[in-house]
Amino acid sequence: MQDLIASSLKYQNNTLSVLDQYLLPHQQVWHECDDVASMRDLILSLKIRGAPLIGLGASLLVAHLAEQGTAKVALAQAIDDLEATRPTAVNLMHCMAKLRIALQQDDYVTAIVSAAVTLFNEDIALCESMANHGAALVSSGDNILTHCNTGALATAGIGTALGVIYKAQQRHGDIHVWVDETRPLLQGGRLTAFELERWQVPYTLICDNMAASLMAAGKVDKIFVGADRIAANGDFANKVGTYNLAVLAHFHDIPFYVVAPLTTLDVNTACGADIEIEQRNSAEVRGVSGSFGEALWAPTNANVYNPAFDVTPAKLITGWVLDTGVYDQQQVLVGELKRLV
Ligand code: MRU
Repeated sequence: MQDLIASSLKYQNNTLSVLDQYLLPHQQVWHECDDVASMRDLILSLKIRGAPLIGLGASLLVAHLAEQGTAKVALAQAIDDLEATRPTAVNLMHCMAKLRIALQQDDYVTAIVSAAVTLFNEDIALCESMANHGAALVSSGDNILTHCNTGALATAGIGTALGVIYKAQQRHGDIHVWVDETRPLLQGGRLTAFELERWQVPYTLICDNMAASLMAAGKVDKIFVGADRIAANGDFANKVGTYNLAVLAHFHDIPFYVVAPLTTLDVNTACGADIEIEQRNSAEVRGVSGSFGEALWAPTNANVYNPAFDVTPAKLITGWVLDTGVYDQQQVLVGELKRLV
């Protein structure tokens, strides 16, 4: 397979490597990966994360295994095992479905490699299109609030919601970003802050529970977030805490946009209530860990509720920024999303 390079995922000289997003920003460690168990572990531990990127990482591994001469039946099993790692982000299912089709071809090795390379390159183009559509919604001097990490680290390109912000900053030069730290795993505080710093976009880091008072003070002009799955009726799942922001935005009359590629659209899921929400380990809420070490602050056996995502209903969303354009509530309510795929 040809070399493919993204911010946190690369295939170079027949070697697949993943930048450890759990250790960023203070340690930059790349893990080589050439078997399904390692990729499963990287995905489950969020060393590789973000809806588009987990699909691409899994796809490149399957393509690599195919080129190494892995038997057809083992490739089918690899696709099933990788698909089962995280249930909410539909991009992973989308990628694995493409590989299953390729596996049916006579020359399935060539077909799988071609499918994986296409998925990777398409993601770069999808990011660019979303960023262009989304940046048109941003005005000079806007203060934009975002949640979790939706940048280059989470995709093969410049990102989804963060790609919009990056593009808007390139156009206007005076954008400021409020970055939700995003408990429990701090993708905002660790990754979005890291990316904005690298891109030289002015930002201010806040704890998630500070968003309400910022909005009340008139300091948030727009909100842009990503998505892990958008249902046919426009409801969407994203990192837990997104729904809080949508409710707050509605109350304060602040435009709230979701940014995602068509690969995040799941028209087979009728509404948000049908989206499976991943439940994660209690330790993530009882304390915190990362490149800085580990801290446990809650009682060792404290009962914990730890859904990785929540669902924002369509009625709270101002606009769906997709690679094909920006859709408003009226369009989504009449079924426009279903017509796109
Ligand atoms: O658990 P994570 O870090 O994989 O969750 C990521 C998110 O919720 C992102 O907002 C979403 O995947 C969109 S990324 C372009």
